[in-house]
Amino acid sequence: MDRRKFIKKHNAGGDKCRNTRVAAEVETNTLKGGKKMKILVITGSPRKNGNSNTLADNFIKGAEAAGHIVARFDSAFKTVHPCIACDKCGTSGECVFKDDFEFVKNNIIDADAVVFATPMYYFGISAQIKSVIDRFYSVNGQISRPKKAVLLLTYADISPKEAEPIVSHYESMIRYLNWTDAGKVIAPGVWTAGSVKETKFPQQAYELGKNL
Ligand SMILES: Cc1cc2nc3c(=O)[nH]c(=O)nc-3n(C[C@H](O)[C@H](O)[C@H](O)COP(=O)(O)O)c2cc1C
Repeated sequence: MDRRKFIKKHNAGGDKCRNTRVAAEVETNTLKGGKKMKILVITGSPRKNGNSNTLADNFIKGAEAAGHIVARFDSAFKTVHPCIACDKCGTSGECVFKDDFEFVKNNIIDADAVVFATPMYYFGISAQIKSVIDRFYSVNGQISRPKKAVLLLTYADISPKEAEPIVSHYESMIRYLNWTDAGKVIAPGVWTAGSVKETKFPQQAYELGKNL
C-alpha cells in the first residue's frame, strides 16, 4: 500500500467520527482560554532518577500547578509487547495483546496533550518508549485528531546536531497524527543519572508544563 492510501485508510477511522473531530477542534480552541487539559506523559528511561524522568517530573509539577490533569506512563517499568503487525486491530480496534498498554489506550484518546520524555539511545528514542508508540497503531483512527505534543529529550553529547534524528522523527510522527508541537526541552551534555539537575533544563520543563 502506498503512503497516500495508508494515510487515507488510517484517517478513515477518524472521518467516520467527523462530528467528533469538529467538536474536538472546538474543544481544543477553548483550551486556549485556560481550560484544564488532560495530559498523558509517556517516559522511556529505565533510570528512575535519571535525566529524562527529572524533566518529566518537572513538567508534571508545572502542569499540575496550572491545574491540568496528568496521567503518567513509565514505559520502562511496564509490560508492553512490541507490535507484531498482525493487523487484527485494523488500526482502530482491539489489539491482540492485553498488557499495560491498556493504560495508554484509556488515557490517550481523550488526552489534549501527549508528552514524550526519552533518553537518546544510539541517536534514536529508547526501545521502551518506541514499543509504546508502535502500539498507537491499534488506536490510530481514534487518536488522529488535534492534540498538543511535547518532547523532553536528554543525551550525553554536547552537539545540538545529535538531536536532529529524534526531533525529525517526533515532528514527522505528530504531523501524521494531526498533533501540534507545543514545545520541546532538549538537554544535551547530560550523561550520568541526575546530572540534568545541575542545568537550566528542569526549570524549562516546569515552565513548559505550566504554560502549555
Ligand atoms: C544504550 C545507550 C545508548 C546511548 N546512546 C547515546 C547516543 O547515541 N548519544 C548520546 O549523546 N548519548 C547516548 N547515551 C547517553 C544517554 O542518552 C544519556 O546518559 C541520557 O542523559 C540518559 O537519560 P536518562 O537518565 O533519562 O536515562 C546512551 C546511553 C545508553 C544507556
